[in-house]
Amino acid sequence: WSSGAVQRERTLAMIKPDGLSGNYTEKIKEVILESGFDIVKEAVVHLDAERASLFYSEHSGRSFFDSLVMYMTSGPVLAMVLERPDAVLHWRVLIGPTDARKAKISHPNSIRAMCGLDSEKNCVHGSDSPQSAAREISFFFGDVRSDTVEHDEL
Ligand code: TYD
Ligand code: MG
Repeated sequence: WSSGAVQRERTLAMIKPDGLSGNYTEKIKEVILESGFDIVKEAVVHLDAERASLFYSEHSGRSFFDSLVMYMTSGPVLAMVLERPDAVLHWRVLIGPTDARKAKISHPNSIRAMCGLDSEKNCVHGSDSPQSAAREISFFFGDVRSDTVEHDEL
């Protein structure tokens, strides 16, 4: 880059109800900071069924959808905006595969291996693309355009 700066990117991370109630928050934040992310924003939110369904609308109609919404509304979540170069991909790698049972075998050092239970109760979320990150960040924090002017676009 002409400025010599490395391009930073933002992603939406979430500690799901079981992660928050199981006191994994401090450990997860340690991993986040050790991995070179800044936690730019955070909020504890208790989603209702309508909001949880909207967040996961790409999965509506899947067999697991109703159960997923029940789980996601069973307690508060911690939503965080994480920033570093390649944040979206880097966070996905750190959390590991969707099914925490598989994560424990194939990615034992991943966050889902540490605190997840199965393919539903997998304790953390990560945006799957820069486009999803933009949508999910505004889902929790509103339109962030105005306070990202001095950063690179999402
Ligand atoms: P998905 O987007 O496939 O996974 P990821 O969270 O890794 O991006 O699914 C979204 C969530 O839906 C997943 O975190 C947990 C839930 N889910 C189930 O409950 N059962 C399933 O079989 C799958 C695939 C997902
Ligand atoms: Mg997904």
